[in-house]
Amino acid sequence: MKAAFLNKTGDHTVFEYGDLPDPTPSAGEILVRVRASSVNHVDTVWRSGIRPYFKISPPHVLGYEAAGDVVGVGPGVTAYKVGDAVIARTKSGAYAELALADVNATSLLPEGVSYEEGCSLAGTGPTAFRMVVRRAAVRPGETVLVTAAASGTGSLIAQIAKASGARVIATAGGRRKRDIVLGLGVDEVIDHYEEDVGKRVLDLTDGKGADAAIDAVFDQSLFDAILSSLRPGGRLVIYGNIAAQQVNLSARTIFSKGLSIIGGQGADPRTAASEQAIDRAALMTLAAGGRLKVLVDRVLPLAQAGEAHRAMDAHEPAGKIILTP
Ligand SMILES: NC(=O)c1ccc[n+]([C@@H]2O[C@H](COP(=O)([O-])OP(=O)(O)OC[C@H]3O[C@@H](n4cnc5c(N)ncnc54)[C@H](OP(=O)(O)O)[C@@H]3O)[C@@H](O)[C@H]2O)c1
Repeated sequence: MKAAFLNKTGDHTVFEYGDLPDPTPSAGEILVRVRASSVNHVDTVWRSGIRPYFKISPPHVLGYEAAGDVVGVGPGVTAYKVGDAVIARTKSGAYAELALADVNATSLLPEGVSYEEGCSLAGTGPTAFRMVVRRAAVRPGETVLVTAAASGTGSLIAQIAKASGARVIATAGGRRKRDIVLGLGVDEVIDHYEEDVGKRVLDLTDGKGADAAIDAVFDQSLFDAILSSLRPGGRLVIYGNIAAQQVNLSARTIFSKGLSIIGGQGADPRTAASEQAIDRAALMTLAAGGRLKVLVDRVLPLAQAGEAHRAMDAHEPAGKIILTP
């Protein structure tokens, strides 16, 4: 199979494109002919080698989200058959023509959803759903602040919070991203490069503050703004650290307002398969009903994985960059 892979870490030019052996499905696995795979922020972290806990094993195929067609099933697999159109969180790397996936991390492609849109519902979608429904536990009528709402994950979080009945105040950088996020149906968008996020949220809530915030930027000034914009007893879910590994935190701010800071871990092997299945099913229902728009910024050939990473490093996309073999 053709794949974009890494033999070393570095900038976006380190990608190689060529032939690797076809993977073979084991028990509980399916083999997917990838029609589209999605590029995630975490892929750029793996590629760059800047975090010691993300180690590549050459030839390393990045990517974990794919949509495509089942072309093989492992022993004992009955849930999917050859020819099914699926979305899958892959085990063997999604920047390739073929990828392996566990049946428990696979769904049928919802009706009316393209491969290019669907691949982001394999991993990003379940993470977004989990942050809103299980970690922030957003309730109808609440006000929720969603930062980086033009990001792949943030754009889905904002829409799922809206579908949960919340008033959504989002942040996005620059006019283009701001307009795109407004088009997702959120209630307000704050340009975090131009405006004081904390003050704007307080203004928009008549000084009461937001009930919850969901953040993956982890930037000191934005973090301070989020804490100041939460109401007493408010909740903050942190699910990423795009800008920094650490921020300073005043204990007094937390205890005096009675804030809850919640770790936004995505679903992982410790998460019950039944819980993941419930979340995936709810997500697919939202997607098939058209209430969830997967923002596709651009579609590039798999051989241009390096160009996709250059654009990601420059924070260009609003939504997802998709690779097609
Ligand atoms: N916990 C989990 O299980 C899980 C799962 C999936 C993803 N994640 C995390 O979620 C985060 C987002 O991933 P993604 O792939 O959705 O990202 P993405 O599409 O690459 O978007 C990242 C966005 O962050 C914004 N940003 C960057 N630096 C910023 C700063 N200093 N201040 C404010 N905004 C800034 C930029 O938007 P603007 O141009 O609008 O500033 C940028 O477009 C990552 O940290 C990722 O690791 C976590």
